[in-house]
This record gives sequence, structure tokens and C-alpha cells, in this order.
Amino acid sequence: MAEHLPVLVSAVVKAFGELRPGATIVDGTCGFGGHSAALLERYPGANVVGFDRDTEAVAHATQRLAGYGRRAVVRHGRFGKWLEQLRALGVDHAGGLLLDVGVSSYQLDRPERGFSFREAGPVDMRMDPGGGPSALEFLQGAPEDEIARVIWRYGDERLSRRIARQIKRALDEDRLSTTLDLAEICRRAYPKGQHRIDPATRTFQALRIHVNDELGELENALASVPEGMEEAGIIAVISFHSLEDRIVKQTMREWQEQSFGRILKPAPITADEPERVSNPRARSAKLRVFVWGAEDAKPTGADRYRSKKHRQGT
Ligand SMILES: C[S@@+](CC[C@H](N)C(=O)[O-])C[C@H]1O[C@@H](n2cnc3c(N)ncnc32)[C@H](O)[C@@H]1O
Repeated sequence: MAEHLPVLVSAVVKAFGELRPGATIVDGTCGFGGHSAALLERYPGANVVGFDRDTEAVAHATQRLAGYGRRAVVRHGRFGKWLEQLRALGVDHAGGLLLDVGVSSYQLDRPERGFSFREAGPVDMRMDPGGGPSALEFLQGAPEDEIARVIWRYGDERLSRRIARQIKRALDEDRLSTTLDLAEICRRAYPKGQHRIDPATRTFQALRIHVNDELGELENALASVPEGMEEAGIIAVISFHSLEDRIVKQTMREWQEQSFGRILKPAPITADEPERVSNPRARSAKLRVFVWGAEDAKPTGADRYRSKKHRQGT
């Protein structure tokens, strides 16, 4: 089985450079545990609490990180609820939060998970197969204009209306049950000829983002940072899509404007040429890092935020 090759590992490890000994890093997208293992290796005083919404990933990461004993805890869960889940484990604040968002190559490469438009599988696309409706259930239940909106918004697909119409027609005629059926509908919606990318790419991406509420999860995770991050905590987010990167960039800018800390570098950190060649996923990866509670800011951004909330009686 193909393992997932983590991206930007040395940049991620470096980003957590000033970690307090004993700090707990939340790895919200534990996956195969690649980033977690690198952090545990490099920072022997740190602990990692890893979450993943995919139970298969949780099993793999648990096994991979077993050698670190109590320094590594892996649980099934969504990173949108990382703080709640961390507190349920008895840890009040995090010293770091790592999010490497999106799907893993392991998920993409398994046709039975429904992410692939190259091999037949169910039209599922849930990272957590036990959570919420599948892509097919969404397509069956949603009106045509809602499907078109999703494909347009999350896929930037100019033929979204035509594709949505063809999807509904195929469902009515019982011609849509596998990922290959869906891919064929997308391809037929396009005029014949050469296309830079497979015409199914954008629709599959859009449905995946919608089914897993990927942008909502990211917003929720970042919204918990002011309450859950300790002084000098590090927030590192790797995104692969402009919609995700925009959320990260804007949120970090707002935090900085409110003096909650500082953006480590104004431009995102990207992969160097050797990594781009050896790991194609790395080509679109952007890492943004924020240091919570600037060194000279006392009390910390988090404390200020908490006391403001307190004053407001929330
Ligand atoms: C790009 S991979 C991360 C790989 C990981 N950093 C590693 O080193 O192996 C993304 C992982 O995040 C998980 N994931 C995506 N969205 C999630 C969410 N909202 N909550 C928890 N896990 C999520 C996916 O199931 C997948 O395993």
C-alpha cells in the first residue's frame, strides 16, 4: 500500500523551533504520522496529540508513533474541534497547532474511497466514511442549482451549470453510481479537444471540499486558536488550494493586527525544486506560520483575548 509522503517536513520542523519544553503540539491532520514523527524526533521535550477524521489514518499513525510511548496520543476526530478534543484529554492549552489540510495520497489512491476519477469506486469522498452524507447522497438530495453553486464555488468550474444538469439527468435515468460515471459526465460536458487538466478534476475537488466541509473545518480550527494557544505557541498551516490559503492568510493578518502575535514570514513557505520533483503534491503546498503572543507583548495576545471575552461576559 502506498504510504503518504508528507510535504515540507524540514520547514515544518523548523517552524516549531522555539517550542517550550513539555509543550503539546496538536497535529490536527495526523494522517500517517509523518509530520508528528519528525516533530517528536526533533523536539524530545515535546508531546504530540494527533487527530484525524479518517479511522484508517488513525490506525496507521497509532502504530507508527507507538515507539514514542506517552509522548504521542492519536485520536479519531475533526480538527475543527481540536480544542474541545484536547481538553477532553486533560490538556488545557496547546503549544503548537499543525494543520496539513486536504486529502492524503493514501485516500486519493484508494478507489473504494471515491476520490479518484481514474478508477471505479463508489461516489463517496468522505474522509470519515462514518460522518455525514456521501457525495452521491448529496447529489441525490440537492437541487440542481445548489449542485451548480458548489461546483462553481469550490471548483471554479465555468461549466458548473451544465455539469449539474447532466448529473441530475444521469441520476434520474439511473446512470450515475460510480466515480467513473461521474467523471464521464464531466468530460462530456466539455467541448471535444485537448484539455490542460482532466475535465473531471474541478468537479471532484468541489464535491470533496463540500462533502467534508473543508473550509468550515479550517475556519473553526483557527477560531479556537485565541482561546487554546499558549504564549509563544506556533500555528503552522499547510494548504493546497487558494480558497484555503486565503482563509489562513486573512486570519493570520487579523491576529497580527490585533497584536495577538506575529506572522513569521509575509510570503508562504513553498517546496524547493528537489521536493517538487520527488513529490508532485508538494508543488501546490503553501505553509504559513504564526507565532502566538509576540515576544515583547505582555500580557500575551491570548491573555488579552481571554480577558476581553471575560469583560464582555462571554
Ligand atoms: C495531507 S494529509 C496529512 C498527512 C500527515 N501530515 C502526514 O504526515 O502523514 C491530510 C490528512 O488530514 C485528514 N483530515 C482532513 N481534514 C480533516 C479534519 N477536518 N479533521 C481531521 N482530519 C482531517 C485526512 O483524513 C488526511 O489523513
